[in-house]
Amino acid sequence: MAADIKIAVVPGSFDPVTNGHLDIIRRTAALFDKVYVCILRNSSKKTLFSAEERVELVKRVTADIPNLEVESFDGLLVDYAHSRGAGFIVKGLRAVSDFEYEFQMAQTNKSLRPDIETFFISTSRSYSYLSSSIVKEVARYGGPISDFVPKEIEKDIIEKIGG
Ligand code: PNS
Repeated sequence: MAADIKIAVVPGSFDPVTNGHLDIIRRTAALFDKVYVCILRNSSKKTLFSAEERVELVKRVTADIPNLEVESFDGLLVDYAHSRGAGFIVKGLRAVSDFEYEFQMAQTNKSLRPDIETFFISTSRSYSYLSSSIVKEVARYGGPISDFVPKEIEKDIIEKIGG
């Protein structure tokens, strides 16, 4: 029955998507009937890739996941989630340092839309140190990023950074 379908949103900046993000996306897709990866504006960040480019990169590395869609949205995450019929927001937590900001966002989203629950998944240990900023920093200085991002998008990052 349609009402029983569990729909989740995995939101983020994904600038660019990393192996850590992909781990969270895959694990979420295994838990829910339908998952939307949503690329949203984070007002405190200036991005390397445009929203359209980030959507394309995430689509490329998730093409094998059947119950997944990738979109961008300019607005509040809870409004996007509501528009897609999603009752859940799923975020990855790497370390205690992530917690304060993530908890603040989860509380804000809960007060904006009490019907949408935020779930946190702890990042796999091998990715606990990883972030899009670290990937960009290493690539900027010509270091290898093959352990950090899916191989299908490695070249795009290096070229974008001007390597
Ligand atoms: O990958 P990030 O940068 O940690 O993702 C943060 C993001 C984009 C999920 C967050 O900034 C967000 O939800 N932005 C949309 C605007 C919004 O809904 N803000 C209210 C929540 S505090």
